[in-house]
Amino acid sequence: MEAEGPQTILLADYQPPEYLIETVELDIALDPTRTRVAAKLSIVRNPALKTVGKVPLKLDGELMELESIALDGRQLKKPAYRVDDTSLTIPSPPQEPFTLETVTYVNPQANTALQGIYLSRGVYCSQCEAQGFRRITYFSDRPDVLARFTVRLEADVDAAPVLLANGNPVERGTLAKRKRHYAIWHDPHPKPSYLFAIVGGDLGSVASTFKTASGRDVDLRIYVEHGKEERAHWAMDSLKRSMRWDEKRFGCEYDLDVFNIVAVSDFNMGAMENKGLNIFNDRLVLASPETATDANYEAIESVVAHEYFHNWTGNRITCRDWFQLCLKEGLTVFRDQEFSAEERSRTVQRISDVRQLKSLQFPEDGGPLAHPVRPDSYIEINNFYTPTVYEKGAEIVRMIKTILGDKTFRAGMDLYFERHDGQAVTIEDFVACFADASGTDFSQFMRWYTQSGTPELVCDLTYDKRRKSAELTVHQTLKASPGKQKKQPQFIPLAMALLGENGKEMDVKVTEGREIRDGVLAVTERTNTFKFSGVTSRPVPSLLRGFSAPVNINISLSDGDLAFLMLHDSDLFNRWQAGNQYATRSILALIEAKRPKAVLGAKAAKFATAIRSALFDDRLDDAYKAELLKLPGIADVAREKSSKVDHSAIFTAHRSFSRAIAEALKDDLVEIYDRKSRSKTFSPDAKSAGRRALRNAALTLLTTCDGPEDYARVAAHYKRASNMTDSAHALVLISGVDAPERETVLRDFHDRWKGDHLVIDLWFAAQAQSPRSETLDEVKALTRDPLFRLTTPNKVRALIGTFAMANPVQFNRPDGAGYRFLADMVLEIDRLNPQVAARMLGAFRSFRSLEPKRRALAKAALHHVAGSSPLSRDCHEIVTRMLDD
Ligand code: TRP
Ligand code: ZN
Repeated sequence: MEAEGPQTILLADYQPPEYLIETVELDIALDPTRTRVAAKLSIVRNPALKTVGKVPLKLDGELMELESIALDGRQLKKPAYRVDDTSLTIPSPPQEPFTLETVTYVNPQANTALQGIYLSRGVYCSQCEAQGFRRITYFSDRPDVLARFTVRLEADVDAAPVLLANGNPVERGTLAKRKRHYAIWHDPHPKPSYLFAIVGGDLGSVASTFKTASGRDVDLRIYVEHGKEERAHWAMDSLKRSMRWDEKRFGCEYDLDVFNIVAVSDFNMGAMENKGLNIFNDRLVLASPETATDANYEAIESVVAHEYFHNWTGNRITCRDWFQLCLKEGLTVFRDQEFSAEERSRTVQRISDVRQLKSLQFPEDGGPLAHPVRPDSYIEINNFYTPTVYEKGAEIVRMIKTILGDKTFRAGMDLYFERHDGQAVTIEDFVACFADASGTDFSQFMRWYTQSGTPELVCDLTYDKRRKSAELTVHQTLKASPGKQKKQPQFIPLAMALLGENGKEMDVKVTEGREIRDGVLAVTERTNTFKFSGVTSRPVPSLLRGFSAPVNINISLSDGDLAFLMLHDSDLFNRWQAGNQYATRSILALIEAKRPKAVLGAKAAKFATAIRSALFDDRLDDAYKAELLKLPGIADVAREKSSKVDHSAIFTAHRSFSRAIAEALKDDLVEIYDRKSRSKTFSPDAKSAGRRALRNAALTLLTTCDGPEDYARVAAHYKRASNMTDSAHALVLISGVDAPERETVLRDFHDRWKGDHLVIDLWFAAQAQSPRSETLDEVKALTRDPLFRLTTPNKVRALIGTFAMANPVQFNRPDGAGYRFLADMVLEIDRLNPQVAARMLGAFRSFRSLEPKRRALAKAALHHVAGSSPLSRDCHEIVTRMLDD
């Protein structure tokens, strides 16, 4: 039974379901501790299988109390059925279609794992992806079993005046007994159980309507805590823009009479795309100028879009099995990135998407948790909702678009929607649509889904002045990763240009090597040679334009060449990239330098000059300039080293580089800061947000000068702030330094926002990310703060998650106390919420590249976790993969 340890599930073992469930009728009587679930399933043998003879019916189910079970109306007694901790089996069900009725009980109040039905601040809600439905009733809880659901919900009128489920509302009414009422919902679209959802609670709401392209009216409603309705308008606005955009860009129209969003406070992730009833972490719904930062507004817009877009990519066309998770997630992330790019600035969006990819996915891909975008095995599927599946998955879709061009890409998407609507499909099915729509062979390209690791392109460019030609060699390598030693070369679209001495792109011709389209090279072999003619002056290469593939690029460019790209590259993404690379390289050089002062002087001057010219370039918008001013973080620099990482040394070098830049640009930064300070009324649009971002980026750099006037400027910024973007920015800055104003500002923020459970998370996070040496003790103390709650994932993420993932210096303290703290917290959280605990453990994912002392301490902390019991399947899998590699 349990003794052999958790079971590994293999993609290779996939078998289609023996039984299909055509309809489901659920009658759910909500009660805090004893919710009754009566289910009636109509079940048929899978006609596609043509199996003959008796086949047992095995349904998934866990953490429930079974009261009764009936088949075709007759009560079953053992041994006509069997139950264990995870399933219900009927050894010999009828050959003909039959109905199965069960009555089970669950306890929402005791459900701290937040999977299945649970209570969040008095609101009943549910979370089923990936395998939560089996905690509600016995079912074939797998994505390739699609059923039509009808749901009747019953609850106390006072506790839950609002009763919601998937689909369209059918009926509601009151019951005589004990002030109860009910609502019936029917979802006409067959769906897998992971998209099931219910909500019951006393909630406020905002409403709107949307007319679809074909003229159907849809009622939209967003439910929030009473009194917070005003904060739901931005989410509503984002929803309507998403609905319009999906019609215009992909021809996808909404398909029910209503679309509901509910904000809840206890939620394991960001949000969930349940059919017609999206459930959101309230952090991703609620926003007002006083309580939300521009980053919050942006996140709300993109997550509302993401969940809405799932209606077609995920719900109408779903995954055959959980190994195909990127089919819906990678594609939907790509779609929400495109939406944001078109609503805001394409370049700035690309920069932030690449920042995110590099800071979260690259380390995963280079460490013990590396897995292919389509994994081939898992123990706990919840552990695979990763940056690799989501963000690298989105990059793969983007590469398909780069390879095919916009029009053919759209044709492939159209074919996908047409061919697979209503089905549960695989990555092969998806890619086949692009192959068929374009006549392109994608077989080598498929390796992006099956091989883990970040490819590295080692490039070399030589110039023949006499012949006016150049030769670029590109060598691709892909390191071994867990479970996979030998890897095959991948198909990499390399967008590039050669810049001439005047800074303009030269009009060159590719005379050898394959060009996919103008300016995009096909890198397909281990070693690839490309020759160019028409190279009229010494070329400076602009490679991987727009980050055309999720790879690392390695080419030896001088500081002068990088500064030249920072000044001239017409690809704005690459201008930013050049600056980023320049700064990273300078900081690394400072660590190694014998005479750091001399190195610093030369490196900083050239960098400052290039930045200054961009800062005063009217053609560039403020949001973009802000990105240029943001130097790479400690973790970004650490990532460039594959071994012997010492965060304290990086911190020192980083600080001196930042300060040198700030001093060189001081007058300009002060000017920018002052010029932009005349703020009018708040608007969350991209332009206004960009203005605030630039000013805050200037403030950040100025603060690294560490003078009393610099600290006073931050304190004044806090005092004068008229919106949360500015207050929160000042809060983080002041919390990061030993300023005399620090305590006062932190206390003021606390006293002002202690009644707001979302805003106060900014206060926890600001303290958790302080690089001061007192931070760990302060974080420990904050875990005992009355406002902190270990059962609320947002709190855990704000305090412990921020400390472990956004404070590289203090988490990686040389004495290992940061590691021990995290290990202890993980064990404590694991007893309440394994999914969240396992995520926190991810903070150790790069421990192998640490310098030896830290590495040993981190390893000891991991062993401590591994040796503890009980340990959830979630944490067991993560810790084993980390230590096994
Ligand atoms: N499918 C959701 C999304 O990406 C995310 C999700 C997966 C999730 N599992 C979850 C959300 C568990 C909350 C809890 O949009
Ligand atoms: Zn998603």
